[in-house]
Amino acid sequence: MTAAPEPQAGSAPEKRLFIKTYGCQMNVYDSERMADVLRPLGYGVVDSPEGADLVVLNTCHIREKAAEKVYSEIGRLKELRAEDPASAGMSIAVAGCVAQAEGQELMNRAPAVDFVIGPQAFHKLPELIAQSGKTRSRARGERLSSEFAAEEKFDALAGPAAARKVTGPAAFLTVQEGCDKFCTFCVVPYTRGAEFSRPAGAILDEARALADQGVREVTLLGQNVNAYDGAPGGLAALVRALAGVPGLDRIRYTTSHPRDMDAALIAAHGEVEALMPYLHLPVQSGSDRVLKAMNRAHTAESYLRLIERIRAARPDIALSGDFIVGFPGETDADFEATLALVRAVRYASAFSFKYSRRPGTPAASMPDQVDETVKAERLARLQALLEAQRQGFNAAVVGRTVPVLFERKGRFAGQVVGRSPYLQGVFAEGPETLIGQIAGVEITATGPNSLSGRLAQNTADQATAMMEPA
Ligand code: SAH
Ligand code: SF4
Ligand code: F3S
Repeated sequence: MTAAPEPQAGSAPEKRLFIKTYGCQMNVYDSERMADVLRPLGYGVVDSPEGADLVVLNTCHIREKAAEKVYSEIGRLKELRAEDPASAGMSIAVAGCVAQAEGQELMNRAPAVDFVIGPQAFHKLPELIAQSGKTRSRARGERLSSEFAAEEKFDALAGPAAARKVTGPAAFLTVQEGCDKFCTFCVVPYTRGAEFSRPAGAILDEARALADQGVREVTLLGQNVNAYDGAPGGLAALVRALAGVPGLDRIRYTTSHPRDMDAALIAAHGEVEALMPYLHLPVQSGSDRVLKAMNRAHTAESYLRLIERIRAARPDIALSGDFIVGFPGETDADFEATLALVRAVRYASAFSFKYSRRPGTPAASMPDQVDETVKAERLARLQALLEAQRQGFNAAVVGRTVPVLFERKGRFAGQVVGRSPYLQGVFAEGPETLIGQIAGVEITATGPNSLSGRLAQNTADQATAMMEPA
């Protein structure tokens, strides 16, 4: 068990901050940054809501289920606050995309909530807390969520960026936010606002600060990360610049849109050693009719041609995607076209969802909404195919030796866990000193969710030498 960190002399007394994160990696990044801006106020992160002074729910609005989870969590927190004397002083803040999309409704429907704060305003949390005074009752009704000002947010976070507390050798780094694509099913353009790219200089500063703290791998984040235009030459130029940061050995990026996958970025996959052979490139459907209704602005054929070009640059690349089944008007034939596309691509991993009707989006009012049972059947068939492809991809790595960045201890003593270049989880027997190191692992077996292997001989010798007294 680790003790709570001692408050530094002269700093504010320790307050307990619990953050629960839903949704995408960008929310994970934002949650870390919220902890960074609250740290100077004396808030330290704890791992349960019991006894917390402040609970932040960093929410997701992408599907109905995701949004509904927030209301049940607020209900649980309200009970905790009423029944547990240690939690009586707890403030509840709702941040993220639900806060942005339904801020007013939240305030009405969940009066237990003290603060509502959208994704472009969380840097103002300290201000909001200070203004609200010490008592919870006075804090009620504060809401900061309506304006989109990504630029202001990132400027405000620039100081804390250098003070970012890293939690392991792999870190997220947001480089782009927002979306101008307006796929007809999607809430993101409404919750995150227009596309905004951070200037390359600020990103490089943050990356250097991370590398100085031992980070070896960064995943560049953006709702449309390959639309990045904060540097001449776009994302490809940014990747090349980051590859030059001493200590940063691995670069990944997510999520990309097929429309923004330009020749320079494809070339980078063949040329930049630090750019890992993994690409998440959602296609959503394999039917041109559905793609058109979704406003994806590409066809199944153009996506397949793009995949060919990417594989020509980097033949071993692991491809990943997102799929929606049961989009309004999707017929059996449309769905078969999706299966055909999946068979043609051969994905290493994928995420697939039943279409969820989101208020305010164009698809929500389209005719021919698909029956839930049909959606469920289609999803099951698609997932069975994708799962078989994933297992096939993993099985093909057995017998190979791959470099693994070890990130943490395994569940069993003497075990360490890391990731392959293809983003597969890999277990191996080895000393804890390997955490933060990249070592060769000979893959010996595949499990349902990860691979296992043994340290390549020269690495094992080195590891043993590191453990022996000098
Ligand atoms: N910007 C990314 C994806 C963001 S949302 C992109 O363009 O690919 C992540 C995924 O959630 C989407 O790719 C899509 O597959 C899914 N999604 C978004 N809206 C949805 C909805 N209304 N119903 C079901 N799935 C949805
Ligand atoms: Fe949503 Fe489409 Fe934008 Fe992705 S590109 S965030 S799916 S609107
Ligand atoms: Fe969800 Fe917002 Fe991310 S809606 S997927 S948390 S951008």
